[in-house]
Amino acid sequence: MQAEPSFAGPAEKFFRSPALRKMVAASGANWLKSRTHEVTELLPGCYLVPLPEIARRRVVAVDVAMLLSDAALNSREFIEICRSARLDAFSVRQALADIASYDEQSARRVAELLAWNYDDLSRIVVQDETIDSFSSQLSESYEEITLLYKLGESMTELIHPERFIQMACRELHSSLPFAWVAARFVDDRASAGAVADKTITVGTPPCEQSRFEGALRMALTGIAAERVILEGADRGVLGAGESQVILCPVMREGTPIGLVALGNKRAEDNQVNNGELKLLQAAAGHMGVLLSNASLYEQQQAMFLGTLEALTAAIDAKDPYTCGHSERVAYLAGEIAAEFGLHEHEADRVRIAGLVHDIGKIGVPEAVLRKPGRLTDEEFGLIKLHPQIGFQILKDIPLLDDVLPGVLYHHERFDGRGYPFSVSGENIPLVARMIGIADAFDAMSSSRTYRAAMDRTKVLAEIRRGAGSQFDERLVEAFLRIDLAEYDRMVSRHGSSEATRIGTLIPKERAA
Ligand SMILES: [Fe+2]
Repeated sequence: MQAEPSFAGPAEKFFRSPALRKMVAASGANWLKSRTHEVTELLPGCYLVPLPEIARRRVVAVDVAMLLSDAALNSREFIEICRSARLDAFSVRQALADIASYDEQSARRVAELLAWNYDDLSRIVVQDETIDSFSSQLSESYEEITLLYKLGESMTELIHPERFIQMACRELHSSLPFAWVAARFVDDRASAGAVADKTITVGTPPCEQSRFEGALRMALTGIAAERVILEGADRGVLGAGESQVILCPVMREGTPIGLVALGNKRAEDNQVNNGELKLLQAAAGHMGVLLSNASLYEQQQAMFLGTLEALTAAIDAKDPYTCGHSERVAYLAGEIAAEFGLHEHEADRVRIAGLVHDIGKIGVPEAVLRKPGRLTDEEFGLIKLHPQIGFQILKDIPLLDDVLPGVLYHHERFDGRGYPFSVSGENIPLVARMIGIADAFDAMSSSRTYRAAMDRTKVLAEIRRGAGSQFDERLVEAFLRIDLAEYDRMVSRHGSSEATRIGTLIPKERAA
């Protein structure tokens, strides 16, 4: 409770006099509790009107209006107050004469009026506070929902977890007023997968990058399951200004495998708030789940490719002349797809189709496959069954749905003179048209039971000659742009070893 009169000269000195203030304080001892507007007579003809200020349903202050009558300025108490403040009572009386126009009745009317005004003002203040608080909560919720939506939308980035982590850090940086956001992961591929030993930084770090990364690495060694807020000297090189540094663990199966950190808050209040912590924890939580899913996906892919490797090795084992054929066709078909402009993921699927295109040869007798010289019509009829046998073998494997057309149609010709269905043109699935070129090129480039390998110039001339008849002309153009150096390396490797490896089939970073 305090009185702040807005007078100058003797009047101000009078209102600020310790004796008067003491009397006002004594008179209003209960105002903070009672919320009263009741008029009190402080001294004869001097009326006090208490005006409580309410915030969050509590009286936080009491303003006091003092209304004077002419009688007050002539009272004994007035003279005593002036004397104690060493003021000339006459001067004070003159200074206050103009406002000393109240009597008890008019003082009560003014008190009522002020009470209404104060109630209205209090209500407006409360409403303003509520609106401010609601706006702030709404803004926090919006940021949170936007971030969660973006994170959720990208949770399928299992093939590229690093992209997801970068996106999450960028979103945090754009949603929160911190100069830098960083993520750091343990140096253990089994735990952190593709982001093992990586630091992702967005914004402006507080120090040179290598020191910054060193500090994050150190912080990671000490982090537990709970977030940490660093202040003052504890922040080390991560500190900037007065801002706190927040470290939030990225957990996988109960173990920290990384951390997300924020620092150098650029806002009026440089202390981290609850909304910011919630967003950071949500981002770290999503990172943990994504890395765990990515690891499972990687294992599943490795198992899947391992199974295909075993299957293709089984085919090649039936005919030593075709050693490595499946792998080379897979490589060339994938290169044609990439050259033709298919998306990276689609090109990978074409490679897989190329790898398994001849899997139906498992169902063709070895004596026919390995027979030197010309085949009889009956034997050729058996060979011609392999696309359908391959289709039957693979059709129930869900992960191979999109590669089945490559298996079934790879011996069709663009002019409709192929087998097994004699379909033509674009009725032949694109993947099968790509494998058709790769298959023919590799067959002509390799020695067979019935003939020696053709030289490169002749093979390419044959492929060109087949454009528009045996092959799709546009795909032949794409094929002729391929650099065959890697293919030649594969040929020499297959020549020196019968082992069929698919290590080069799909680059490791994309298989991961
Ligand atoms: Fe074939």
